[in-house]
Amino acid sequence: MRIRSSRAFAVLVCLAVAACGRGSATPPPPPPPDVVKPTPRPVPSPTEARVQLGQKLFANLCALCHGPDGRGYVADNAPSLVSESFLASASDAFLRTGIVEGRPGTAMGAYGRARGGPLSDGDVDAVIAFLRAGKPEPMPAAATATAGDATRGKATYTSTCKECHGDPAARGKAPYLANPVFLASASDAFLRHAIVNGRADTEMKPFGATLDAQAIDDVIAYVRTWAPEPAAPVSSQPPPVAAGKVVLNPDGKAPNFTLKEDRFVAAADVKAALDQKRRLIIVDARTPADWQRGHIPGAISAPYYDLALLDVVPDDGTWVLAYCACPHHASGIVVDELRKRGFEHTAVIDEGINFWHNQGYPMEGADVDAGH
Ligand code: HEC
Ligand code: HEC
Repeated sequence: MRIRSSRAFAVLVCLAVAACGRGSATPPPPPPPDVVKPTPRPVPSPTEARVQLGQKLFANLCALCHGPDGRGYVADNAPSLVSESFLASASDAFLRTGIVEGRPGTAMGAYGRARGGPLSDGDVDAVIAFLRAGKPEPMPAAATATAGDATRGKATYTSTCKECHGDPAARGKAPYLANPVFLASASDAFLRHAIVNGRADTEMKPFGATLDAQAIDDVIAYVRTWAPEPAAPVSSQPPPVAAGKVVLNPDGKAPNFTLKEDRFVAAADVKAALDQKRRLIIVDARTPADWQRGHIPGAISAPYYDLALLDVVPDDGTWVLAYCACPHHASGIVVDELRKRGFEHTAVIDEGINFWHNQGYPMEGADVDAGH
């Protein structure tokens, strides 16, 4: 199953590449001897082909949250990836780490092959090339050390930043600065650039005029004190699809769900159905690394971009519930696919997995306590 679907993905990538190469067509037969060789046609720029591949991958995998052009805020407050302030300060390494590792505990999954995701190193480079196309080059990293005072920084952070960014005790809506992957990959210069310049066209205003250099260093020193435990490593192998173990409580009665808008089931109703040992199927629509770190017990992994994995789900009237973190978009793709295939009883778990986890409902996985 897995082999077949990754092959499908490879075909998709090949199609994208082939589409980019179109125009150079089949190579002409070798010229007969003594005939002057025609001037070779210009080879399509590799950069352009890479940008087009990146755009295609972005459309399939990222647009549901970050929008087709990367401006963000389509789902779960996914930030803009194309503001000048962001791209000027984010190194390729910072972008690569974010894409390959994700941001555990947020809706941002791990997309690198090394984490069981769909993107090869070359694919990640292509996505970065797409995001950077037509934008200024990133600035060289400034190596200035920060000499801030974390105690003063805490006071400033609490009065000025916390309402949006939250803190390790409570997440906010804006990017989670206490995230281990973020703190390990964001340099002080990157943090300072965001604070001083803000991010045009987003809620992140520039603080360069209201906070002096020392106050900004103090805030950075405070943010650095969080340096949380790194998330548990996850394997590069996608979770096995347990064909015999898809249906939970196979001998149980069907649950009686009331759907909101003919589509959404409340997490509390799902929890109650599990407690009553009702027969159902739960699909985790996030990336495999998120599944490995923590999922609803018994949920199978079928990421929104790998719908062939749904072939193991029996079409026998059993309720099939999908969830993600965003909390509707990736799970919505799975439910739409099942409905297209004619499944009668399908729903999105309305509040998503982060709510589920915060309620203290049961979870299983390698690292269920991390990042939430
Ligand atoms: C009104 C809400 C709001 C406030 C107040 C705010 N931020 Fe932000 N911040 C945001 C948003 C939204 C983003 C993401 C913007 C984007 O799409 O790029 C952001 C981005 C950032 C980033 C970049 C994070 C990343 O992953 O790229 C840093 C660092 C940051 N803010 C620090 C701060 C600090 C420090 C303060 C207080 C001095 C602060 N912010 C105040 C909303 C806010
Ligand atoms: C399910 C929604 C979702 C999808 C799909 C998604 N992202 Fe994200 N992404 C997010 C969220 C939410 C964040 C911010 C997380 C945080 O730090 O709080 C984020 C953060 C990022 C960041 C870090 C940005 C910063 O300001 O620090 C990068 C880079 C990124 N995503 C790239 C991608 C790429 C490339 C893809 C596709 C391969 C993708 N994302 C798919 C939701 C998503």
